[in-house]
Amino acid sequence: MKIVLIGYMGSGKTAVGQQLAEVLGVPFLDLDTQIEEATQLSVSEIFEKKGEIFFRRKEFETLQNLLTADTSFVLATGGGTPCYGTSMQQIKEAANTKSVFLHASLEVLSKRLFIEKSKRPLIAHLETEVLLNDFIRKHIFERNFYYQQATFKVDANNEVAAVVAAIVIQLF
Ligand code: S3P
Repeated sequence: MKIVLIGYMGSGKTAVGQQLAEVLGVPFLDLDTQIEEATQLSVSEIFEKKGEIFFRRKEFETLQNLLTADTSFVLATGGGTPCYGTSMQQIKEAANTKSVFLHASLEVLSKRLFIEKSKRPLIAHLETEVLLNDFIRKHIFERNFYYQQATFKVDANNEVAAVVAAIVIQLF
């Protein structure tokens, strides 16, 4: 089975994905990492040197390859992955695939992202918590349309182990 984790930056897709993959005994894959390995550039460098459109195209192609591969895995996507082109449609139509929306509150996301924003080119320039909060609120409003199409959603405000447990309960 393929499990695709979707949700906003800072919702815990990577941390939850790593633990979930361990529990399920399948490989863990991270879409950003796959793109970084393929291009030999960090996500920030890709945005800076090649531009966001290049990144979105790579993201789309990499996702497509993974969804059509005949393997089981837990995949942590990037926050924007399901929100461009036909990506969410492809996730929904992929064989033997379930998607999970990690849903965290604006407060939790702001708090987590303010500490870790430097590696994220979309928010790295936002200098105050007020600016970051405002950006995230508007961005989530646009993106929720896609996130809500996941097979099911879980409360991602909790700690990693609790989120993993909530996903396992819904899967089986
Ligand atoms: C992005 C989220 C990032 C990364 C890139 C763009 C987005 O991944 O793919 O910086 O558009 O929300 P994380 O959600 O893992 O931070």
